[in-house]
Amino acid sequence: MEKLVITGGVPLKGNVDISGAKNSVLAILAGTLLVNGECRIENIPDISDVSVILSMIECFGAKIGRPDKHTIVVDAKDITYAVPDYELVRRIRGSYYLIGALLSRFRKAEIAMPGGCNFGSRPIDQHIKGFTALGAAVDDSRGVIKATAENLTGVSVYLDKVSVGATINIMLAACKAEGVTVIENAAREPHIVDMANFLNAMGANIKGAGTNRVKIKGVTDMKGGTYQIIPDQIEAGTFMIAAAATGGDVLIRNVIPKHMESLTAKLIEAGAKVTELDDAIRVEGTGKLKATNVQTMPYPGFPTDLQPQMVALLTVAEGLSVMVEGVWDNRFQYTDELIRMGAKINAAGKMATIQSVPTLYGAPVKATDLRGGAAVVIAGLMAEGTTEVSNITLIDRGYEKFEEKLRALGAKIERVEE
Ligand code: UD1
Repeated sequence: MEKLVITGGVPLKGNVDISGAKNSVLAILAGTLLVNGECRIENIPDISDVSVILSMIECFGAKIGRPDKHTIVVDAKDITYAVPDYELVRRIRGSYYLIGALLSRFRKAEIAMPGGCNFGSRPIDQHIKGFTALGAAVDDSRGVIKATAENLTGVSVYLDKVSVGATINIMLAACKAEGVTVIENAAREPHIVDMANFLNAMGANIKGAGTNRVKIKGVTDMKGGTYQIIPDQIEAGTFMIAAAATGGDVLIRNVIPKHMESLTAKLIEAGAKVTELDDAIRVEGTGKLKATNVQTMPYPGFPTDLQPQMVALLTVAEGLSVMVEGVWDNRFQYTDELIRMGAKINAAGKMATIQSVPTLYGAPVKATDLRGGAAVVIAGLMAEGTTEVSNITLIDRGYEKFEEKLRALGAKIERVEE
């Protein structure tokens, strides 16, 4: 087992390049199963979740090439139906995209209930609502989702809850359905637009992604092509917060500044200086951080996946901050780790109050989940003394070369064997 050892107190300085989006790549790789030809996907992040989804799509007999670490070529022309191994499915939340993809390709799918980070209840009723509306029969009893359809027919589906996963999954199932499908109250996250652009590049006909009404006109065939994944909004946000939290000066390159607007606004409110460039953002610490209230929401609101990192910053932002988690029921487990480092946080239900302390102190802590792990690393960078972060395979799920990128910015951080 490996851990990260961090000696805090060094302001981050320099340039960092952001990798391709984790949440896009999982959906896009599942989407290659729809395509009757070669898909070349560029700007793939080198993270462990990618290996998991690749192993799953290999089990259908897809041919996979990796000309370099950041490019994957998938040829799913000759795939055959299979039920992916539960051991793989339970490792990532994104496995649920295989339901939409297999339904589209084979008119049937059988996937165990997916795993992923534990933020309380994570229902998939809206995915099922969409599949059923398209004409599939879905049975989700006994921890396995079994879906079959004679035909999939375009329909209008209203999502009762704005769901990223349901929006993408219904897009997948509808790509080759007969007629037109409309998703109302669709999620608008950047990776939904990315997914629609990918599917369109491969031959689909999707309009309106990025608005709350997505229209999918079924096509008979998707032939393949080349596609480049967008930069990871959450990795970019993590580095922006780390720069501000350490009082540093970092140019975060290969980002889409528009995707960062909610975070940019909150960092400015908290006292950082943020400058937007064409495809980069510069974040400078300006001395004292000020308390700020934040509420997470679906895009374009403040992303829930940056909530833990922002709370790490707020631990030393002078005054009383309030963080309201507007997406997940239970996403404050990591706060116990920050409390070990001297933070004063009171988390209950969907709200945490954060009373500032003058400084955090290094301590042995663990990553409780992917983004909670990033939060304790940021806290370690801010703290006086040495922090040891264990359970870091969770961080490796979603951050490419996290400690190497931080080290290049001057952080004192090492990966060592426990
Ligand atoms: C995705 C991201 C995750 C992020 C989340 C919200 C991936 C692989 N994961 O997760 O990192 O935190 O978006 O931005 O992309 N809900 C229902 N019924 C459903 C589906 C969702 O009630 O059928 C609820 C959930 O419990 C949650 C909210 O809707 O409260 C949002 O969930 P959703 O957007 O679906 O999250 P994921 O796609 O699972």
